[in-house]
Amino acid sequence: MADTQITVYTITPDMPEFQEVWNLREEVLRKPLGLSLKNDNLSRDYIDTIFVASSGGSVIGCVFMHRLSEEQIQLRAMAVYPQWQGKGIGRMLVQAAEKYAWQAGYKQIILHARKVAMGFYASMGYTTYGDEFTEVGIPHYMMSLQSPQV
Ligand SMILES: CC(C)(COP(=O)(O)OP(=O)(O)OC[C@H]1O[C@@H](n2cnc3c(N)ncnc32)[C@H](O)[C@@H]1OP(=O)(O)O)[C@@H](O)C(=O)NCCC(=O)NCCS
Repeated sequence: MADTQITVYTITPDMPEFQEVWNLREEVLRKPLGLSLKNDNLSRDYIDTIFVASSGGSVIGCVFMHRLSEEQIQLRAMAVYPQWQGKGIGRMLVQAAEKYAWQAGYKQIILHARKVAMGFYASMGYTTYGDEFTEVGIPHYMMSLQSPQV
């Protein structure tokens, strides 16, 4: 990692990274489940704030922030390519998303955590609430983080 430059920034749908993000989500979040984004309603993608992590000019990770209300924002579509996982990139993306959310005045971030990824969010202070539910065919839990300013 020491010699690898990773940058995190926001993108818009008119940028070439938007297609790269689609490819990343397809590979990491859909194909392993035997699914495709082609069957998803992607309308939120055009209104969300999208963060990417980039290395050498290529997108290697992403996360989307979706406004739910004046107070609440949803973190979603969190993905890092397998060869880049476990190197702190997911954490960098979540930290950038949190900074954005708190600066924008939101009071709470919520997310639908895959059961296998709960430890990732828990390591960043997110707490679990509610019952297990199924999404994309696999178990999930609701998790949330309160603004430090509350
Ligand atoms: C989950 C995911 C986004 C994490 O990104 P990452 O870049 O690998 O995570 P990081 O390296 O930043 O890890 C941050 C911390 O979370 C921990 N962590 C990462 N993935 C974890 C997991 N699945 N379970 C438990 N802990 C995990 C790391 O050990 C690290 O803890 P530490 O700082 O105490 O060492 C990534 O592994 C991924 O894309 N997985 C497949 C898709 C997925 O499950 N997305 C989430 C859908 S809700």
